[in-house]
Amino acid sequence: MQTLPSHGEPITDSEPHYDKAKEAKEFDESKAGVKGLVDSGVAKVPRLFIHPPENLRDLSPDTDGAATGLEVPIIDMMGYWDSRRRDVVNDLCRASEMWGFFQIINHGVPVHAMDGMLEAVKQFHEQPEGMKREWYSRDDAKKFRSCSNGDLFRSKAATWKDTIWFDFSRGVLDPEAVPLLCREPVFEYERHIEKLKISLSELLSESLGLDSDYLGDIGCMKSKRMAAHYYPICPEPELTIGTINHSDASFLTLLLQNHHGGLQVRHQNRWIDVSPVPGAILANIGNFMQLVSNDKFKSVEHRVLARQAGPRVSVACFLFPGEMQKSKPYGPIKELLDENNPPMYREISFTDYFGYYLSSGNGLNGESVLPHFRVSESK
Ligand code: OGA
Ligand code: NI
Repeated sequence: MQTLPSHGEPITDSEPHYDKAKEAKEFDESKAGVKGLVDSGVAKVPRLFIHPPENLRDLSPDTDGAATGLEVPIIDMMGYWDSRRRDVVNDLCRASEMWGFFQIINHGVPVHAMDGMLEAVKQFHEQPEGMKREWYSRDDAKKFRSCSNGDLFRSKAATWKDTIWFDFSRGVLDPEAVPLLCREPVFEYERHIEKLKISLSELLSESLGLDSDYLGDIGCMKSKRMAAHYYPICPEPELTIGTINHSDASFLTLLLQNHHGGLQVRHQNRWIDVSPVPGAILANIGNFMQLVSNDKFKSVEHRVLARQAGPRVSVACFLFPGEMQKSKPYGPIKELLDENNPPMYREISFTDYFGYYLSSGNGLNGESVLPHFRVSESK
């Protein structure tokens, strides 16, 4: 930080010895996460979490959205299996094209399964440090693990949240791999999410003008990974952020949130608050769906503010191609192309695409990886 005193000479940094790598290492080795910091009584956001101004652009709540009445669409799935199918398909189509983000109600996932999941995640993160540190790991091969700031050593600044990961991608997740506290709730929630995924796969296929089995047959939503986030109350929310602006690498993401809010979606160059709707599940189009839909469906930026209200708890379920499909090439769906709609992207396997996503910094800071796969940019 630089300030100019009255005699005109700059005073440089108030913390000249700040060593980000060292701070990050110490934070990680504590295995206590952001919740640990809060429990230890920090009244100020530590330097490691202070973001440069460009990450904090217009952090204030969405006065714009409120004024313009813009709101993420709410889609009622009631009756989608018969009388209202056409309406639901049309609503999904419009929301996926215009917002890339929507809240779904009457989706069939029981309230007790959603509440049970959110409560288990909250309880896990709120355990005494000693109870959860054995799960803390950066080893992506683990089926269950807890970790704060997956990109801690690469990002400019850390974010104000802790995360637990459930990996359902390679066959069934062994219940023994999951702490007892979360076991029943996560498996119950997953069962219902699987059913919802199948329904949405059919409905979204129809929204693209394809046979209802189309997306199911190409296997692009076969795998699931869940990231269950805990955003502790933040003493200085204007200095940091919960989740930096990004778009998801997934095909589709299904997101459950508690009632504390903080999520914002980028729409028409504004940040729009996503107000929690009781019983709703959010869905957002991922980058990979934008690619196979040849830009018909949009993957949009979103972020989570750090706040003094909370804690916010959310569960993001990322859907992406299964083990068997990961290495096969995906490209814009042929049925969507004609002379007026040429392919915008080259074919790419999910493995190669995701490898690029990780190597380019997780698409954070709103830098979508999609342009890299555009036809005009390929050799
Ligand atoms: C994500 C994400 C939002 C939230 O995990 O990709 O955008 O509400 N999460 O935690
Ligand atoms: Ni996201």
